[in-house]
Formats: sequence, structure tokens, C-alpha cells
Amino acid sequence: MEMPRLVIGTRTARLPIVQGGMAVRISLSPLASAVAQAGGVGVIAGSGLTPEELGAEVRAARAATDGVIGVNIMVAVRIFKDLVHAAISEGADIIIAGAGFSRDVFGWCKDAGVEMVPIVGSARVARLSEKFGASAVIVEGVDAGGHLGTDRHVDDLLPEILDAVEIPVIAAGGICTGADIKRMLDAGASGVQMGSRFVATTECSAADSFKAMYVAATDDDIVLTTSPVGLPGRAIRNPLTERHARGDYERIERCRACLKECGKEYCIMDALIRSQTGDVTTGLVFAGTSAARVHDVLPAAEVIDRLVAEWQAAEEGAAR
Ligand SMILES: Cc1cc2nc3c(=O)[nH]c(=O)nc-3n(C[C@H](O)[C@H](O)[C@H](O)COP(=O)(O)O)c2cc1C
Repeated sequence: MEMPRLVIGTRTARLPIVQGGMAVRISLSPLASAVAQAGGVGVIAGSGLTPEELGAEVRAARAATDGVIGVNIMVAVRIFKDLVHAAISEGADIIIAGAGFSRDVFGWCKDAGVEMVPIVGSARVARLSEKFGASAVIVEGVDAGGHLGTDRHVDDLLPEILDAVEIPVIAAGGICTGADIKRMLDAGASGVQMGSRFVATTECSAADSFKAMYVAATDDDIVLTTSPVGLPGRAIRNPLTERHARGDYERIERCRACLKECGKEYCIMDALIRSQTGDVTTGLVFAGTSAARVHDVLPAAEVIDRLVAEWQAAEEGAAR
């Protein structure tokens, strides 16, 4: 039995699996191209890169695979427009926009023949996105890693979004196994987006200590934390999250003005750079609840093979 394909506008992936974009420098061209080559949608995270760096990542991914490559950029980032244009001009297939809503990005993508896929947390925003020309929407629930736009579970949100739009809906947040994928597809999703499972891959650009935190994490280690972006974030508990939970924030050494609006409690860019480069004590290790179900670091293609096999086993089990 074959998994259904994922059609996003003019682009088709052989598998209905999108690897979530993960800033800062967690999902770059090595991970995105490995996932795309294995049949999924590989996604480079643009937030935290310069337009030149992002352009180079997209070029490298394009050279490595003919598969579907997306670029995820947070609308909250000050240079959002420059990053979108850098990704488009280097041949990204899809722009995925999260952490805010931009009306302009629909026009930029349409003019360039690039698919636009916003991340939504409500039926209202999904409907608005379809009206402006979205090719699909990603509905992300509260179990996801990183910044959260809702306090509801994806299983709860998905039916409302499916009722609101005709375009494909991709479900995200807490999806970790082939059985989870079956649950989402059976509920009407056209595909899933997974972040945490793809952190623990050899191609992921996070430091080994970052990946080791995932492998060691249990349910109790995954917490909600505050972010100057103005949204809660989900991360693995460490001395930094404990300190922030007490309202004790590190001083901002140098402000890069990277966000359009920033609460300035602490510098999230510095905290994410520290963890990505290996300091998982004073760095912020974003992770979804499913990190507690990740027990090994594997090549991305093996993760995908395993997901397909688990999905097939779940399908066969249901058919018996
Ligand atoms: C380390 C990390 C960084 C992330 N960074 C971003 C980001 O820059 N932009 C975004 O839209 N989502 C980001 N996410 C969310 C993922 O793209 C994806 O939607 C989410 O991880 C799905 O939930 P899961 O982790 O339960 O699979 C991040 C998630 C993680 C774990």
C-alpha cells in the first residue's frame, strides 16, 4: 500500500510528509535536501539568516535534489520581505510563513509562481489565507516545538480548519510516528508537518548536544516558556528555562533589531544561537512534546522509511 502524495498547488511530493522549518540554523540545506530527496517536502528555515545566507542554502538544496524545497520565514522577522525574495530568486518551491500574517507575501509568491503556505491557528485565518491565494495551510497545535500560536491540540483544531477551506490542510504538532500520520490523514489532513522527529537526524544542523537533549528527554522535561516574540514557546527544560520561569532574564548584550516587535526580556536570537552551537545549558532548546518519543539519531531517509513502514503497519492493522 502506498502513502498518498501531497499536492501543494503546482508542486507534488511523493509522500505527505513536510519537515518543519526550524530556526535558527537547525534546518538548513543538508536536512531539507535529504528529506526532499526521500520524497517529502524539505524545509529550510530562513529566520536568523541574512538574505545572502538563505540564498546560498536554497542554492545548495536545489543543487542536491529535484525534490520539493520549501523555505519557512517568520513574519515577525524585520527582514521578512528580503528573505522571501532571496528564497524565491534562488528557486524555492514553497514559502511557508509563520508567527504572524502577511498579506503582501501572497502577491510576491503569485508573481513568481511560488506556492504560498501560511501556518494558521484558527479557522478565521485559514479562510483569510485561502481568500488571498494560499495553496495550502498548515494547522499547528499546542504540542509543536518552537513558538505557539494556539493553546489547542491539532486533533481538536483540524476539523474546524477542514470545514473552513477547500485547499489542502497539513497538520502539525505532536506527530511523531506512522500511526500519528494515519490518524491525521484519516481525519482529513492532506499531509503532516513534523519538526521534532527531524531534529534527531544526522543531517540536522544542530549541535550533537542539542540532539542528545532530545534523545534523553522525557515528558516531564518538555515545558512552555516565554519568548520576547510575544508568543509562548515549547522547549526542553534546562537551566535557562528554569531561570526564565523565575522571571530572571540575562542582559541583552547587543540588539540586532532582528524582530519587527520585541519584548526585549532577553535576546532570543542569542539564546537560539547558543543552543544550536552546542551550549544547551544557557541556550534555548526548542522542542515539541514528541521529543519525548524520539530515542535515536538517524539519517533523515531512515526516519522517513520508518514512518512509511509504521503507516503501512497501521493501515494493515486497521484493515484486518
Ligand atoms: C527547534 C525548532 C525550531 C523551530 N523553528 C520554527 C521556525 O523558525 N518557524 C516556524 O514556523 N516553526 C518553527 N518550528 C515549528 C516546526 O516547524 C514544526 O511546525 C513543529 O516542530 C511541529 O511540531 P513537532 O515538533 O511536534 O513535530 C520549530 C520547531 C522546533 C522543534
